[in-house]
Amino acid sequence: MNVELYERIWMWAAAALLAVFLGVIFLMAGLHAVQPPSHIETVDPTALSSHPEFGNPTVTSRRDGSVVVSVVAQMFSFNPDPIEVPANRPVTFRITSADILHGFQVVGTNANAMAVPGYVSQFTVTFREPGQYVITCNEYCGLLHHNMVGKLIVTKGAP
Ligand code: CUA
Repeated sequence: MNVELYERIWMWAAAALLAVFLGVIFLMAGLHAVQPPSHIETVDPTALSSHPEFGNPTVTSRRDGSVVVSVVAQMFSFNPDPIEVPANRPVTFRITSADILHGFQVVGTNANAMAVPGYVSQFTVTFREPGQYVITCNEYCGLLHHNMVGKLIVTKGAP
C-alpha cells in the first residue's frame, strides 16, 4: 500500500500527540498521587440524622494517633465546620452527602473527593504544613454553590 509522504507525516504526528497526551495524564496522576476510590460503602442518605457516625459528624482520634474525620456535605455547607486535625498524622476523611452531589476539596492539597448521596467517599492524607486551609465544593450544586466553603485547621501535632 502506498501512503503519501505528507499523509505519513501527519499520521505519525497525530500518533505522537496522542502518546504525549496519555503520557501527561499518567505523569500528572503519579505526581499528584491520584488514587481510584478505595472501597464502596453505602449509607442511607434519608436517615443520616439518626446514623451513628453521620448523625453527628465529627473528628475522632484513634489510639495510634491517626485521625478520622466524618463529614456530611449539604446545601450549602460542610458539617463539621471548622475541622481541626493535627499535622503529620494520617487523617482519614469519610464524606457523604445529605442531599445532592457535592465536592470536597482542600485547596492547595491533593485531598479531593466527591460527596455522593448514598455513598461514603474515603481517603487518607497527611498534612505536613500547619495552617488554615479552605475546603471548597467543586461540584455545581445550586444557586449558592460558590458560597459552599469550609475551613480546615491543621495544628502543629506530632513532629
Ligand atoms: Cu456543594 Cu457546590
